[in-house]
Amino acid sequence: MITLKSAREIDEMEKSGALLASIHVALRTFIKPGITTMDINRFVHKMIEDGGGIAAQIGYEGYEFATCTSVNDEICHGFPSQRVLKSGDLVKVDMCIDLNGAMSDSCWSYVVGESNEQLDQLMEVTKKALYLGIEQAKVGNRIGDIGHAIQTYVESFGYGVVRDFIGHGIGPTIHESPQVPHYGEKGKGLRLKEGMTITIEPMVNTGTWQSKMDANGWTARTKDGGLSCQFEHTLAITKDGPKILTQQPE
Ligand code: MF3
Ligand code: CO
Repeated sequence: MITLKSAREIDEMEKSGALLASIHVALRTFIKPGITTMDINRFVHKMIEDGGGIAAQIGYEGYEFATCTSVNDEICHGFPSQRVLKSGDLVKVDMCIDLNGAMSDSCWSYVVGESNEQLDQLMEVTKKALYLGIEQAKVGNRIGDIGHAIQTYVESFGYGVVRDFIGHGIGPTIHESPQVPHYGEKGKGLRLKEGMTITIEPMVNTGTWQSKMDANGWTARTKDGGLSCQFEHTLAITKDGPKILTQQPE
């Protein structure tokens, strides 16, 4: 079921998103060589609770952590662990926050320590792909317009865009209709309406788009061992265009 949100509900989701965005801003300086992905999880969980929110991923279909922390070839749903991050690692931190019943969801990628040209380009292309997708999220456009814009851009660099995991409607729960693939055809799929709230969250791989599943049943990684990068925003479709609800201050 697709729930259309009122302006007031969107305001509440924006407050939830502001708390989430402030945590990503804090992670910019928290993430450095020598910390573990569990350190990141603990830091995020405390900030969510200090902000009056609930770590909504905990208990979601049996998931046990406030965050997903996926490193290098891990595409998504990496479990926080005692893994020590080193310079040149690429870590994706994904979280969902319930603040007073309003949901937000945003994943951001971070280069640990020193970056390099390959990582810089992958980060830049993935972020640009997210914003190209968001640009298409306007009343009257179709779901396929979002995926088409993302896929065309990403593939022009020889990168692959993941198909096994996609964006989604959001609120009141984490995953709702509609599904929002990051690939597709222009002019195809559901028409976008005012009041829809969705996520766009392209996962971009240096090699093939194909993934494989770890034995834990959650963590997906690139089939060819290439790097995977992800940026995700929660947004509302308004009559004035897409409104990003998890926008980070500069
Ligand atoms: N934040 C994830 C998403 O973007 C949710 C992952 S489901 C969980 O859809 F169980 F891992 F939380
Ligand atoms: Co999401």
